[in-house]
Amino acid sequence: MHEIHAQRLTSRRIAPIRPVPDILEDASAGLLQAPRSLPPKYFYDDRGSRLFDAICETPEYYPTRTEEGLLARHAGDIIALAKPRHIVEFGSGTARKTRQLFDACQRRQSTSYWPFDVCESMLLESGQQLVEDYDWLTVNALVGDYLGGLLHLPRLDGRCLYLFLGGTIGNFTETQAGEFLRDVRAVMKPEDFLLLGADRVKEADVLHAAYNDDAGITAEFNLNLLRVLNRELDAGFRLDGFRHEALFNPAAAQIEMYLVSNCGQSVRLGALDRTLELAQGERILTEISRKFTAPGLEAMLRRAGFDVCRHFEPGNGYFSLLLARPQ
Ligand code: SAH
Ligand code: AVI
Repeated sequence: MHEIHAQRLTSRRIAPIRPVPDILEDASAGLLQAPRSLPPKYFYDDRGSRLFDAICETPEYYPTRTEEGLLARHAGDIIALAKPRHIVEFGSGTARKTRQLFDACQRRQSTSYWPFDVCESMLLESGQQLVEDYDWLTVNALVGDYLGGLLHLPRLDGRCLYLFLGGTIGNFTETQAGEFLRDVRAVMKPEDFLLLGADRVKEADVLHAAYNDDAGITAEFNLNLLRVLNRELDAGFRLDGFRHEALFNPAAAQIEMYLVSNCGQSVRLGALDRTLELAQGERILTEISRKFTAPGLEAMLRRAGFDVCRHFEPGNGYFSLLLARPQ
């Protein structure tokens, strides 16, 4: 667990909590021996966050549109049930879809929003836009890693609605997902709610296309990780030395995203004072994106100590939105 420092920025309404960067440890543990992998949080520097936003606009990437449709349809019910005084969102990104919930809150005065994300620039930009667009909303931005930071969440008086949208729970292993949900459960009061968005198992070609868009934006998002490593680790990755690969692994019900080395190469990791030797075709796992079944999601929430109150899904069963409360 990393120390998180609370700090107030110039804007009266935005108070970030700062993470201590741990990329040196993660790169050393994940890159220097096979199977090579990195945690997906490093995708989201300012450029990576903007690329993710652009992925959401591609015709192939259905999760964002599908979840937004569910939120548009059910936000009124969700807010009526949860009656939140605070909305706390993990991995909030641009918070574009969350606006459906704010719109449903509109007549409720003095709601506060606590977006919690690793990307500070996106938090500040989206937070600023939100306070301009919703003059009744207080925004308290929390910058940090939600896999290590829930104990540092402020204790909030009044009913809370916790959000974890976008299917980001699928970027966790099964163990991480269970631990994370139990951590969220541990900070919740009996009257609080959790709204969880998760992507569903479906035809392999639909999944494959969503992570291999024709415009190459997902490839650019994946390769952006090398720019992050070059900057943060003083590393010497050549972007043309790697290619994007995303495959659906049906046995594990997950998309696996890799950076594949185009040739045999040595890459200097200056900050670690080490050299990474890669063979042609050698892969670095950069992300898993797990796909769930409806019963699997409900069982996962029950195991973590929740009762499922509502389970919304579209006609094609592409995505789930579950409203849950502590058992
Ligand atoms: N919820 C938004 C964004 C999803 S993208 C949507 O549904 O569209 C995933 C978001 O989680 C990004 O904004 C990224 O910066 C953030 N994120 C990823 N790993 C994180 C971590 N370990 N801690 C905090 N935020 C993280
Ligand atoms: C943030 N997360 C849910 C996305 C996903 O679909 O797993 C990240 C992403 N990776 C490639 N495209 C989108």
